[in-house]
Amino acid sequence: MTKALSNPHLPFGDQRTAPWYGKSILTVKQFNQDDLKYIFEVAHEMREMVERVGTFDLLKGKILVNLFYEPSTRTASSFTAAMERLGGSVIPINEVKYSSVAKGESLPDTVRSLECYSDVIVLRHPEIGASALAAQYARKPIINAGDGIGEHPTQALLDLFTILEEKGNVDGLTITMVGDLKYGRTVHSLSRLLSLYDVKLNFVSPEILRLPEEIISELESKGIPIQEYALLDQALSESDVLYVTRIQKERFEDPRDYENVKGTYIINSQTLASAREDLVLMHPLPRVGEISMDLDDDPRAAYFRQMEYGMYVRMALLAMVLGKA
Ligand code: NCD
Repeated sequence: MTKALSNPHLPFGDQRTAPWYGKSILTVKQFNQDDLKYIFEVAHEMREMVERVGTFDLLKGKILVNLFYEPSTRTASSFTAAMERLGGSVIPINEVKYSSVAKGESLPDTVRSLECYSDVIVLRHPEIGASALAAQYARKPIINAGDGIGEHPTQALLDLFTILEEKGNVDGLTITMVGDLKYGRTVHSLSRLLSLYDVKLNFVSPEILRLPEEIISELESKGIPIQEYALLDQALSESDVLYVTRIQKERFEDPRDYENVKGTYIINSQTLASAREDLVLMHPLPRVGEISMDLDDDPRAAYFRQMEYGMYVRMALLAMVLGKA
């Protein structure tokens, strides 16, 4: 073995023995603090490389399939950008109605077919557990890009990376999540990931959109102080981070329930008058009116920077599962 292969400090060596080589990324429950430290170190390196050279050849010759059964702007295009910046290429399948899925092909068969042509599959699907199911059948790594109202682990990683880049640390912070905590998979993943740290979590939602009991119990069993509120102003002034989410219209069984809660929280410059000067205002996007455009130039508004951080995190994850980090 050459020195480069055996040196664990070289982030971009060909390390087929690297712990994440060939692994699927399905849930944030897979990560401990050391993993996160490592992912963010690599993401940081990716940021520097992109700033210095734009595109480089770390994953030259590798192919990613973006298999999206639900709409996406950021997740799909940031995986594409991440793969192409690393010199790899992408097969986009975002209109499954034009693929054999429309003929009734099962998810296991679809992934077993696509992996014949590729090295990694990024999957977004409306059902909880779809990525785990795909990973049971696939030989190549599956990356969960959102499984219904389940999880969205790569979004949570980029959210946490954003908090770290913006605040410098996570321990000691009070983080408030507001909006659709029931159906919002990004909140499910992020709150679980944050429970690895010494944080206080506030959850603000209408009664019918409270964080699922299962996740509350998980957080409590880790000793995380949590508080639930119906009104944002009760939690806002003590918050270091405000994580705003969209009410997920498409997930409601009864459209009347959506009508009753839509527009419950609208964050504008008036709302932020009682917030800290150094608040970090985040949103996984898309926003549909929860954050007023008036705030876009406020230095506290981090949601567009958050998107950019996402590409670096996804570059890091692709390099890791393909054995190059
Ligand atoms: C989120 C998602 O798809 O869960 N978007 C994203 O990936 N950035 C949030 C949402 O759709 O509201």
